[in-house]
Amino acid sequence: MKIIKAKNYTEMSQLASERIFDKIKNVANVTLGLATGGTPTRTYQYLIDDYEKNNTSYSHVTTFNLDEYIGLSPNDSNSYRYYMDKHLFNHIPIPKEQTHIPNGLAKDLQLECEAYEKKIDNHGIDLQILGLGSNGHIGFNEPGTNFDSNTHVVNLADSTREANARFFNSLEEVPTKAITMGIRSIMKSKEIILLVSGERKKEALTRLLDGEVDESFPASILKQHPNVTIIADKAVLGEKGVSLAYNYAN
Ligand code: GLP
Repeated sequence: MKIIKAKNYTEMSQLASERIFDKIKNVANVTLGLATGGTPTRTYQYLIDDYEKNNTSYSHVTTFNLDEYIGLSPNDSNSYRYYMDKHLFNHIPIPKEQTHIPNGLAKDLQLECEAYEKKIDNHGIDLQILGLGSNGHIGFNEPGTNFDSNTHVVNLADSTREANARFFNSLEEVPTKAITMGIRSIMKSKEIILLVSGERKKEALTRLLDGEVDESFPASILKQHPNVTIIADKAVLGEKGVSLAYNYAN
């Protein structure tokens, strides 16, 4: 596991977008795993800026998002489909049918999960972008999630609903369930970038770096992936940052 210390949120986003450009420019039929939440929005803005400047092609790019709320339609401004369209897809020339997000309105959720996992397997994710939940969740894999899990339905932790209530009118409006790629689905990615920004993530990042690999802290599994880079800003890493030669890769 490598750690890159960014000066601030802007630099973290810039560094992440450069890693993504690298894949888009150098991998034929590249598949990207994408995240939502507050953390990656500026990274996506850098992708849009790059497209506007360089007319970057997206015809060979396929994307898979980590998760989606159950019960929200794609037109609901809090659905992750809406988020991705708003923050990225509507501004770059990616064919919409190449962008995959679990369907939170599927009649048969189990079938939806199985079909999603199959699609991921057919493509294989070259680079997965992740954010970090304050309770250690990645995607919507809450503490206690089995490390062997594939795409599945989850009950959201109260702390996650509270953390995400800032995007909704009230806590009651935050869905109680979601579909998420599982830990196993995420770990199958060839490369992973974990973005961490801001002081409110300090405790979670410290536990990730210093703690045990344990299902009670889902992100800890990343220590067992051979190609993970954490890009974190100064606000979360403090002054120690880069000098720490963390290398957990097996
Ligand atoms: C959300 C998402 C995650 C995201 C995380 C952190 O609930 N499901 O994919 O990475 O929590 O969110 P934020 O970037 O807003 O802190």
